[in-house]
Amino acid sequence: MSMNGFFISFEGIDGCGKSTQADLLKSHLESKGETVVLIREPGGSIISEQIREILLNPANDTMDASTEAILLAASRSQLTREVIIPALENGHVVICDRYADSTLAYQGYGRGIKLEWLEKLNAFATAGVEPDITLLVDLTVDEALRRMESKSFDRIEMEGVEFLERVRSGYLEMAESYCERYFMLNGIHTIEEMSKMIINKVEEIKSEIN
Ligand code: TYD
Repeated sequence: MSMNGFFISFEGIDGCGKSTQADLLKSHLESKGETVVLIREPGGSIISEQIREILLNPANDTMDASTEAILLAASRSQLTREVIIPALENGHVVICDRYADSTLAYQGYGRGIKLEWLEKLNAFATAGVEPDITLLVDLTVDEALRRMESKSFDRIEMEGVEFLERVRSGYLEMAESYCERYFMLNGIHTIEEMSKMIINKVEEIKSEIN
């Protein structure tokens, strides 16, 4: 079966506002008659959500970076085969709040695992399925942390400023390396402004593909 759906991923550091944008994009596309599957990573299927709990539990503070990367890949592998590929085969729109690039940004640039290994792990976990467009919501670490002040942090979010600075610069590098699928937005714009820019871009790329 061919995959004639449309695959969108959102990326960015914690607190950048991408989840709000993913929800707004979903509502817009549904109002245009699309069937939209919105999922978050890690998670998005029963098994993947169970893996998410292990990954984000603050009590698991002895978890090695290698274990973290492999668990993320396991969660992604199940999600891709159980949810993403069937949805794309049925012609639906899939919106992923984080996908394989999060592993390059967080475990690669953030934790220092060799990108080469993570790229192989991602290729295995995703079965080679890549987003048609990746929307990177870029925000300074200071601003992102300010916005998250009232929230309780999960295990990965507790890493601190320098870690998030490395993650952010990793995303900026990827936006250049994969410029054919990346679209970067400045997260300082209002929610409405960003949503308009995202909708315009997605409509443009979708019409090029269809
Ligand atoms: P979540 O609460 O979903 O955060 P956010 O709303 O910012 O997406 O938690 C996901 C956390 O997991 C987040 O800190 C980023 C991290 N993560 C990785 O480190 N690597 C990955 O591959 C993925 C998908 C997430």
